[in-house]
Amino acid sequence: MTQVPRFDIPADRLPALLCAMPKAELHMHIEGSLEPELIFALAQRNGVAIPYASVDELRQAYAFTNLQSFLDIYYAGASVLLKEQDFYDMAWAYLERAAADNVVRTEMFFDPQTHTARGVDVKVVIDGLHRACVDAEATLGVSAALILCFLRHLSEEDAFETLEQALPHRDKFIGVGLDSSEVGHPPEKFAKVFGRCRELGLHLVAHAGEEGPPAYVWSALDVLKVERVDHGVQSARDPALMARLAQDRIPLTVCPLSNLKLCVFPDLKAHNLGTLLDAGLVATVNSDDPAYFGGYMNENFLQTFAATGLTAQHAWQLAANSFEGSFIDDAAKAGYVDRLNATFARFSA
Ligand code: ADE
Ligand code: ZN
Repeated sequence: MTQVPRFDIPADRLPALLCAMPKAELHMHIEGSLEPELIFALAQRNGVAIPYASVDELRQAYAFTNLQSFLDIYYAGASVLLKEQDFYDMAWAYLERAAADNVVRTEMFFDPQTHTARGVDVKVVIDGLHRACVDAEATLGVSAALILCFLRHLSEEDAFETLEQALPHRDKFIGVGLDSSEVGHPPEKFAKVFGRCRELGLHLVAHAGEEGPPAYVWSALDVLKVERVDHGVQSARDPALMARLAQDRIPLTVCPLSNLKLCVFPDLKAHNLGTLLDAGLVATVNSDDPAYFGGYMNENFLQTFAATGLTAQHAWQLAANSFEGSFIDDAAKAGYVDRLNATFARFSA
């Protein structure tokens, strides 16, 4: 574990510090960064009909009661993506916002099955996203990588087929994940395909414990052998699981505004991020689907800290955790932590 430095940061400087500190984003779905304006522009460019009369009408539909109510709209929004340039434009818009929030490293999820089911070749998807990642490094100074997610409401056979289609582009993604409707689709449904991905040397992550029970987090760890758990906030209901996550330093990629918008917690004040951190877990803050949940990285930090009273020390820990949990090498991690410490020194009294 990285040595934790102590900083004396005046409380009124905390919001600016949250924005200025370098950070990694480890949990965002690139299709969830499609802003209504871009959905409309792409619909027009591609001649795709969408069942909303205006940007405002679409935005008004973003009132969710749970994960499924969001996913229905999210998959409909992605239907405007057809060409390589569409995937590039979507990713580039996100990467510019990430750079503005001082995100220096991002590991972006993408859902190939959402596109291949509409007849879009997986090569078109991966090439467009990857080209944006390369350009982001060169012109924005943001290091960006891709993680291919399997949709868990579909079969394991379908996931295997998707893996086969994607493998010719293996050099353009670093790992696989598991997303979509959680309850009723436990991680063990994908034991074989994750086993194969492990043999291939891919990094492994999975959504677990967003709405689903702690048992899903256990099976993500013990059956899928994931290196990170996406969300994982329901782990707090199981003390033995909390001990395991702390002991093995398994990062949890927590998404506060997502949890708020999908009614996982009644309000941000009730969010358990502070509990997870204070129990020694490698918790991180992430935006999940920023276009749908009301904020990118800095907005997640600002609103969560304002509501919960987390401190500058927590802020340092969250940023340090984001580097520890990322899939970059140790030298790169150390370089980012040095930059983090330099930012904190600048904001110290
Ligand atoms: N796909 C996009 N966002 C998701 C989330 N929060 N949970 C599961 N699947 C998702
Ligand atoms: Zn997610």
